[in-house]
Amino acid sequence: MLEVKGLGKDYGELTAVGSLDFELDAGEIFGFIGSNGAGKTTTIKMVSTLLEPTRGTAIVAGEDILNNPLGVRMNIGYMPDFFGLYEDIKVWEYLDFFAALYQVPGKERNGVIDTVLELTDLVIKKDSFVSSLSRGMQQRLCLAKCLVHDPKLLLLDEPASGLDPRARSELKSLLAELGSMGKTIIVSSHILSELADFCTSVGIIEKGEMRAIGPVKEITRSLREHHIIEMKLLSAPDEAAEILKKLECVRQVHILGSSTLKAEFEGSEEDQAATLKHLIDQGVQVVTFEEKAASLEDLFLQVTEGAVQ
Ligand SMILES: Nc1ncnc2c1ncn2[C@@H]1O[C@H](COP(=O)(O)OP(=O)(O)OP(=O)(O)O)[C@@H](O)[C@H]1O
Ligand SMILES: [Mg+2]
Repeated sequence: MLEVKGLGKDYGELTAVGSLDFELDAGEIFGFIGSNGAGKTTTIKMVSTLLEPTRGTAIVAGEDILNNPLGVRMNIGYMPDFFGLYEDIKVWEYLDFFAALYQVPGKERNGVIDTVLELTDLVIKKDSFVSSLSRGMQQRLCLAKCLVHDPKLLLLDEPASGLDPRARSELKSLLAELGSMGKTIIVSSHILSELADFCTSVGIIEKGEMRAIGPVKEITRSLREHHIIEMKLLSAPDEAAEILKKLECVRQVHILGSSTLKAEFEGSEEDQAATLKHLIDQGVQVVTFEEKAASLEDLFLQVTEGAVQ
């Protein structure tokens, strides 16, 4: 659905985006993560044909952004990080206007407007003025606008910013629903943990370079230097700690309380199983033995150096 090939952008002396290469399949929800100034907006704008690349190109649903920008535009829905809405018109007029721009035939437009209003949960605001909507509702209206021409690829630049927790969670389910409808979605954010549970893959960009990319689980695993295993015990944790410290695959052990231990672990799942067996063989009463996934936040801090341009 999307093929990004050596895509980059310079602003004068500054290289905002170096040279990006990645591909997304249909139905993928790609979390595009990076701190302020990392190059997310620049990348999204280039793929959306709003900004000319300095080098490289991208192919969207078979159309090249350089050779056929209009063809690309018919296939994408772009939601900018800052959007201006036309305020002196009603919600349905706003959507009707964009549906007309995208050449949705007149007799289909009412049906399309109802569908996108339903998807974005704005049906009751159909006859309200755009200016009377709350920020979160305006954001949803902007998303509704991106959907009127039934695009294959959605590019959403920080759609969750400024939303309250409930609106964020509603946005998440909406994106998941759009994903299940087969749309490919790029969603940018600095709030990593928000993307983790519904993105199929994530890419971490820093200083215009992709530092890590892949399925959420895979990159979490491959980037973690070591695993953390947490154990709850019935017997004294300091005895268990002594046993663990002697093992080659255990780097460090922290006693967390009267019954819990945390071990920094290097090794395979076989090593984990052997460690558990060893503890039990030594008479340690283990209640739980669990690998803790590193959070996306940890991962992000590990991958990026916190450097901004
Ligand atoms: N029009 C411009 N002229 C000059 N430099 C720019 C321009 N737009 C962006 N930049 C620079 O390019 C770099 C990348 O900016 P970009 O907006 O793509 O980052 P971002 O990842 O979207 O950040 P944020 O999270 O703050 O939105 C920054 O260093 C920024 O200052
Ligand atoms: Mg941005």
